[in-house]
Amino acid sequence: MKTKDWFTEWFNTSYYHILYKDRNDSDAQLFMKNITEFLALPKSTHILDLPCGKGRHSVFLNSLGYKVTGGDLSKNSIEFAKQFENDTLNFEVHDMRKPFNNNYDSVFNLFTSFGYFEDDAEDILILKNIKNGLSKDGYFVFDFLNANKVKANLVTEETKIVDDITFNIKREITNGFILKQISFFADGKKHSYTERVKFLDLEKMTSYLNKVGFTIKNVFGDYSLNDFDPKTSNRLILTAK
Ligand SMILES: C[S@@+](CC[C@H](N)C(=O)[O-])C[C@H]1O[C@@H](n2cnc3c(N)ncnc32)[C@H](O)[C@@H]1O
Repeated sequence: MKTKDWFTEWFNTSYYHILYKDRNDSDAQLFMKNITEFLALPKSTHILDLPCGKGRHSVFLNSLGYKVTGGDLSKNSIEFAKQFENDTLNFEVHDMRKPFNNNYDSVFNLFTSFGYFEDDAEDILILKNIKNGLSKDGYFVFDFLNANKVKANLVTEETKIVDDITFNIKREITNGFILKQISFFADGKKHSYTERVKFLDLEKMTSYLNKVGFTIKNVFGDYSLNDFDPKTSNRLILTAK
């Protein structure tokens, strides 16, 4: 498979979910509670969680009373998420490079779900689709890694054992991308995947957002919504209209 399509393959494997099974869902829930309260989103808000993965944010937002649609490219993740569907929560396979059929009051792009593509034009196309899919005055919420901090504290080699699988992880920053090479032996064979995320700092993201007509309203540095500091913040969280 071409490097270009690493995200289609890797995120659709069970190994991706095994490697990240220890991610902190209570942090994710705290973030959703904080951001919806901060933005004072009325319960009538229809939120698009894009991409939603297996639906962890969507399910929680729905439990807060919001109507939620979750979209993701991964067929396996959407199939899993569908077990949680109800009258006000639905999931669909969707490629964020394609325009939406619906209009949403808010669009959330969470947990570093952006910057996967070689060409800046594809990133900008996604933002354009989001802008066009938002109702007037709707909020876009963007939650990304803090590239400056990742660079300053880069762990170049790491081994993680999860569910008896030993994941060997190598990281580097090259040609404007943060690369994570993940290799492991499982189910009788050797596997090797690369996660590749664009080195998007606040300046570059601001220029992307402005290009499609968004104005940044808030810049936060963590899930408790403290101010962003390029040196110390764990996340780069933006809200835009
Ligand atoms: C880092 S995961 C985060 C998922 C979810 N937001 C969460 O926090 O659990 C990134 C997700 O992006 C999805 N994805 C990658 N490329 C996509 C695309 N072109 N369109 C829609 N989803 C995509 C993957 O399938 C994966 O579920």
